[in-house]
Amino acid sequence: MTTIIMIIIAYLLGSIPSGLWIGRYFYHQDIRKEGSGNIGTTNTFRVLGPKAGVVVLLMDILKGTLAASQPYLFHSPVNPLLIGLVASVGHTCSIFDHFHGGKAVATSAGILLAYNPILFIIACVLFISIILLTSMVSCASIITVTTIFIIALVIHDHILAIIAGIITVLIIWRHRSNIQRILHGNESMVHFGLGNYL
Ligand code: G3P
Repeated sequence: MTTIIMIIIAYLLGSIPSGLWIGRYFYHQDIRKEGSGNIGTTNTFRVLGPKAGVVVLLMDILKGTLAASQPYLFHSPVNPLLIGLVASVGHTCSIFDHFHGGKAVATSAGILLAYNPILFIIACVLFISIILLTSMVSCASIITVTTIFIIALVIHDHILAIIAGIITVLIIWRHRSNIQRILHGNESMVHFGLGNYL
């Protein structure tokens, strides 16, 4: 019974479309109609600016962390990664957004934070380094999640390898349009210190 409740809570948490709601209720803008059209942190930065971007980033990470922390809170033997995965799926297929949603990067990072904070820090350092090198958040997202999957294989963390593998496929699938743009050389870039995020 507890497992079903945890799954429902994880799905509802993951479903919270932070970017969509922050845009709608605080900025009176629909970020689905601007920039990349995604409801995630990157497009929130791009469309609504850094303050909204940071709030959405923290909210989306928190969704994953809270969802994956439930087995610890409920003293359940269920692996937190399995419950966390439901939140990532919820983020991409939100009940509050007609079963559309984001690209699951920040929410999946939140799951990793709950499961293994050291790996989370490694992922953050890698992610930021790739952004500094390529100026492409999408590129950083894809490479970072793939690297976590490879690390899980190397350290023989089988459950992490399975869940990270599923999330890697999910994130690559959700980044199909970004991959097309990267291949055609017209993916959006982030420019630091220039006062805009396009
Ligand atoms: O977190 C999503 C990011 O990897 C790409 O976002 O808006 O550039 O498609 P966006």
